[in-house]
Amino acid sequence: MTSDRIAAIWSKLESAERRTLTQLFDAHADRVGKLSQRIEFDIPDHGTNGMLVDWSKTHLDDDLLDTFEELAEASGFAEAREALFDGGIVNPTEGRAATHGAMRGSGTEAQVEEAEALLARMGMLVEAIHQGALGEIKHLIHIGIGGSALGPDLAVDALTRDLKLVDVHVVSNIDGLALEQAFDACDPETTLIAVASKTFTTTETMTNAASALKWLADNDVSDPSGRVVALTANPERAVEWGVDETRILPFPESVGGRYSLWSSIGFPVALATGMDDFQAMLAGAHAIDTHFRESEGRANAPLLAAFADQYYTRVRGCQTRAVFAYDERLALFPDYLQQLEMESNGKSVTADGKPVGGPTAPVTWGGVGTDAQHAVFQLLHQGTHLIPVDFIASIAPGDELDPAHHKALLMNCLAQGAALMAGQASDDPARSYEGDRPSAMFLIDDLDPAMLGALIAFHEHRTFANAVLMGINPFDQFGVELGKAIAKQLDTGEGEFDASTQALMEAAGLG
Ligand code: F6P
Repeated sequence: MTSDRIAAIWSKLESAERRTLTQLFDAHADRVGKLSQRIEFDIPDHGTNGMLVDWSKTHLDDDLLDTFEELAEASGFAEAREALFDGGIVNPTEGRAATHGAMRGSGTEAQVEEAEALLARMGMLVEAIHQGALGEIKHLIHIGIGGSALGPDLAVDALTRDLKLVDVHVVSNIDGLALEQAFDACDPETTLIAVASKTFTTTETMTNAASALKWLADNDVSDPSGRVVALTANPERAVEWGVDETRILPFPESVGGRYSLWSSIGFPVALATGMDDFQAMLAGAHAIDTHFRESEGRANAPLLAAFADQYYTRVRGCQTRAVFAYDERLALFPDYLQQLEMESNGKSVTADGKPVGGPTAPVTWGGVGTDAQHAVFQLLHQGTHLIPVDFIASIAPGDELDPAHHKALLMNCLAQGAALMAGQASDDPARSYEGDRPSAMFLIDDLDPAMLGALIAFHEHRTFANAVLMGINPFDQFGVELGKAIAKQLDTGEGEFDASTQALMEAAGLG
């Protein structure tokens, strides 16, 4: 019955009248008011900050929104959201809850208490290191991959442009060059190593960690293992590997890898910016949790974003979605989103194992404005693909140069959205822009730690809302396992390989 109802709702969405963006603006004078919203939060000692989210330049209209609200209801959105924050099993294939929200105060009382105790422990270690308990520490080499690297890398890069207490290098790739570059930039005498791995088994991370320990020893650092901190949900394994318990910062198993920035995986952020800024990042995320928990239908901004995502992916057949940060500090944001969205929602089956009824996560890609304007925007304006675009910009500048820089940055950002929508007719086909190309805008007051937390939490909830509307489990990632298993078999020589792989092994001198 439910699936018949959902199928009927999708047919209604697919057959809805299509109007151009210009027609939609002409039809409703209050379109901007209806499809944009300001979300504001006040963080003690960090002040008020806010973001204006604007979906008016998308093809959503009242009829589509009514139908999407019906879809959310039929898909059990309210129940799924409650389960998420109440510690329900929202990851059925692994029989787990997803308690990243609790790390920032949004969960059951018991989970939040546990999270606070874990973060207090992290705060004490951060403070002790700042006070010199491990000797003089000027550099941190943070070793992790996927969710154990992308969030820390983004947050450290975004928040330490002006000032950093410790110089952080995030190393993820097993390509030794990545680690060598970090070694070249650090003095072994004053370097701390953080080994960040939920499982403490990931090949790339454990290989890099062993080489980093060797580098300390080769450089005559006394007690190299005393310079290692482990960030993990598998503390027993970290002890076996040789990390002293006092330097292990655990986090709960129910915090997923790509949702783990809020846990001890955020250690480099706290070390580089101070625990107070880290807590502000959690508070900004909590503000968005509250908005997401308490707002209904189209008034719920991450859910509204998911309505647009579903519309473009399933109804308009868009295979990609682009994100452009008009802010140098958010240069790594598209990379971060790629894992969040594609590892969460790049699935072919529903949570109960049936083939999913339509396309799932589009390919997320993007870059920084204005660089991207001079590289990929040609295709966005005149190419044959329809690509919904998100823009992110900050009203307050990140630089202290002549304000002309920031003014030009913002005007370029706004111009791109306007141009994509309006297009321009010309007698010369090569010079004509068809327009009617959608975009959304995140206009933030200022990029401080709380705002970064808010932006990330917004996208976590957008990803979750998309998963609920598609009926899929966003919290597992079995699709990454097969390649890892085959790499192991290639290494051990066990198993049969296809002729092409066998020939390539031989050509690479590995056969
Ligand atoms: O790529 C698969 C994955 O499991 C990610 O989900 C995770 O963030 C990453 O590997 C790293 O895993 P771990 O933190 O256990 O080393």
